[in-house]
Amino acid sequence: MKRTHISSSLDHRAWLLPLISVSVLSLVVILAVSHSKSSSPTADFTVSDRVPVNQLGQQPKLPGFAYLISGTKGDVTRLKRVLQAVYHPRNYYVLHLDLEASDSERLELAKYVKSENVLRDFKNVMVVGKANLVTYKGPTMIASTLHAVAILLKKAKDWDWFINLSASDYPLVPQDDLLHIFSYLPRDLNFLEHTSSFGWKEYQRARPIIIDPGLYHSKKSGVFYAKEKRSLPASFKLFTGSEWVVLTKPFLEFCVWGWDNLPRTLLMYYTNFLSSPEGYFHTVVCNHKDYQNTSVNHDLHYIKWDNPPKQHPMNLTLEHFDDMVQSGSPFARKFAKDDPVLNKIDEKLLRRSNNRIAPGGWCVGNSASGKDPCSVYGNPYAVKPTVNSKRLEKLIVKLLDAETFRSKQCK
Ligand SMILES: *[C@@H]1O[C@H](CO)[C@@H](O)[C@H](O)[C@H]1NC(C)=O
Ligand SMILES: *[C@@H]1O[C@H](CO)[C@@H](O)[C@H](O)[C@H]1NC(C)=O
Ligand SMILES: *[C@@H]1O[C@H](CO)[C@@H](O)[C@H](O)[C@H]1NC(C)=O
Repeated sequence: MKRTHISSSLDHRAWLLPLISVSVLSLVVILAVSHSKSSSPTADFTVSDRVPVNQLGQQPKLPGFAYLISGTKGDVTRLKRVLQAVYHPRNYYVLHLDLEASDSERLELAKYVKSENVLRDFKNVMVVGKANLVTYKGPTMIASTLHAVAILLKKAKDWDWFINLSASDYPLVPQDDLLHIFSYLPRDLNFLEHTSSFGWKEYQRARPIIIDPGLYHSKKSGVFYAKEKRSLPASFKLFTGSEWVVLTKPFLEFCVWGWDNLPRTLLMYYTNFLSSPEGYFHTVVCNHKDYQNTSVNHDLHYIKWDNPPKQHPMNLTLEHFDDMVQSGSPFARKFAKDDPVLNKIDEKLLRRSNNRIAPGGWCVGNSASGKDPCSVYGNPYAVKPTVNSKRLEKLIVKLLDAETFRSKQCK
């Protein structure tokens, strides 16, 4: 890969212009600097070796992410791999293996978290001990997500965005890139792909009334359907979209604390809704004036569907690699266990070696002769974005383009 200098202060200013014209948002002061404090590029990353300085000499504040990574029976290895790939000492992680998984699997995961020095020292990974029964397509999925959010709100203070992943997801960018690019964003943007045009989904999703046995049984099964159908709601507008979301802390506090009754009312409505994760947060965001203007119509995932779409998206393989990278998306799904494309992502995009945590600017150990650079750690705030962060930057600029950004909100 070619070694190039990234982010001079000038080209950053250029891409920030469209952001600044999004005037209604409470914009943070966006300053054109890189977070990289390092004065010498490491062997692992293609980074700038000088710190670009702007007129004021200030840097945007580094954000923090709170991840939920969930899995089921047989997912321990995959979940561990996703954790290693998205790990950063600046973030928080809740790992949830649903009730289908055995206690010994949960124990195995917890043991791994205890055994890895970095995770033990930064104390930012939690394994949910009391597992939830989760029905695919049922409201127990939303309940489980809200449970993880509540844990994160209670146990971890300083984070900005919540990101929901499963064992069949994988990142396409190092965390340093994500932290770097998001440091320039207003902290109130919620990323959810959504629409109010239901099309075929009106009959398959909005009208049926379902019951999720996961709410009262202890064994997993499918949802069942009531004979009656219901009409579309009149007191609020329904939205639907992708179940992969990146949501802000203030919005999730609004959902979990419930000082306004909307999130609670909608949660009750969604109890009998098929595939509630495709619509719950979307409908809450779009039905409240304080949040409508914060929605960005994208799920930040690269997902490939068959044509016509089947129930599950395609398994991504080596043939999708280039397209995936070009998309600029920070995450992709879905991947079969140990698919060779994951090794390519590790090697080319994350610089992650087998069974190790993906390195970042916080890893200051010597990586010569195959040593793990993350066995010695420095400042978790020392972020060294790679040259690939440009693609993510491009995607974000496109999404926040003044021409299209507003026109795609809650329509
Ligand atoms: C969160 O992640 C899980 C994957 O475990 C997914 O199936 C679910 O629908 C996601 N979305 C929400 C809104 O809970
Ligand atoms: C949201 O944006 C619309 C259109 O730009 C604007 O009219 C409205 O006042 C904004 N609402 C809030 C709460 O800022
Ligand atoms: C995707 O991979 C899984 C294995 O993880 C396999 O069970 C499934 O059949 C694959 N799906 C397709 C559409 O090939």
